[in-house]
Amino acid sequence: MKRVSNIGYLARCPANGAQEDIAPVLDAELVFDEREIHFAGSRGEVPTAFRGLESIDAGGKMVIPGLVDCHTHLAFAGWRADEFKLKILGRSYLEIAKAGGGIASTLKKTREATFEELLARSEGFLAEMIKLGVTTVECKSGYGLNLEDELKTLRVYAELKKRQPLTIVSTVLGAHIVPPEYKERRAEYIKLLVDDLLPQVAKERLADFCDVFVEESAFSVEEARQIFKRGTELGLRPKLHADQLSNGGGAALAAEVGAISADHLEFIDDAGIEAMKAAGVIAVTLPLASLFTWQKPLNARRLIESGLPVALATDFNPGSSPSFHYPLSMMLACTLNRMTPAEVLKASTIISARAIGLDSKLGSLEKGKAADFCIIDAKDPDTWMYNFRGNACERTFKNGVLIYEA
Ligand code: NIG
Ligand code: FE
Repeated sequence: MKRVSNIGYLARCPANGAQEDIAPVLDAELVFDEREIHFAGSRGEVPTAFRGLESIDAGGKMVIPGLVDCHTHLAFAGWRADEFKLKILGRSYLEIAKAGGGIASTLKKTREATFEELLARSEGFLAEMIKLGVTTVECKSGYGLNLEDELKTLRVYAELKKRQPLTIVSTVLGAHIVPPEYKERRAEYIKLLVDDLLPQVAKERLADFCDVFVEESAFSVEEARQIFKRGTELGLRPKLHADQLSNGGGAALAAEVGAISADHLEFIDDAGIEAMKAAGVIAVTLPLASLFTWQKPLNARRLIESGLPVALATDFNPGSSPSFHYPLSMMLACTLNRMTPAEVLKASTIISARAIGLDSKLGSLEKGKAADFCIIDAKDPDTWMYNFRGNACERTFKNGVLIYEA
């Protein structure tokens, strides 16, 4: 067992309580081992049995739960910097997609990439994320879009689970777009997903969730329903890319199919908010994607004030969010989504863990939870997110083990 002493500000981010309730403790200590946290609270209340333990000095800095990035498209080949320039000059995401760019262009490169190439690149991204304080990452497929290449991507995630320290959760996004070769045969592609891909994914236990991009340029509500029905039968809980570029009824569908989360939501309306709240769907905000697509960001205040919990993720991908910088997305959640730093901190930890079904195991600094935490060189969350710096994370611990030190 070990102890972290001299914590100036401990943000416990408990599962219970309101979105802004991070249950802070000043002058705190943390006691943990590789299995779990044994104590998280005020120095004066450390149980006597733990007082003599070997201690790590936090130097009066802030300790927070390890960050949980609950929406990424981690494994892809190539980049799309050319499109970035086109978008700056005024072309829209949809126009670029219709001209054969966008997801279809990454699709081509990802199909050409070998398993080993995708693995090495993804592992490299994760190694960078660790330095920023990230300890759990959700990873989607969706740039293979045929049986072989979707499985290749998901097997990369399965391999990553074994060979690096972060917790990886994988999601099958075979319904990202209809791939070009099925353009005139949409129903056949959906049949391939439902009859072949999803059953194989379930059989090999390659994913926990099944995602669909519900959008005019991707899949209709009715098509998504069919995919989710099969996914649910196979034990793959729904997740959605919803109401990102238009209000396409994604939020209502998320509620209808019992999705664990609905993500993006720039165009969500009041009915969508109410439906998600009633069904217990977590809203995931992706401010980096709004920023890189020149879109009006989600007003997350509206959601939080209606009582809908909001999680945060990077949406890391080569098109709409070419950055895995989670603390950057946290600052943007404040400035673009109008969330307070305390709300953002819970959105990045316990609520994000809820969006991927891991909230009983991690995401908060409470007795019995995994000892995933980081030491941040800041006085408190307000100061940290407002005085944005490249990286304020000094040490990252995963399951009680130091995996990064600045
Ligand atoms: O989450 N919305 C759909 N999918 C991605 C974009 C992927 C891409 O452009 O390559 C997203 O924004
Ligand atoms: Fe996405």
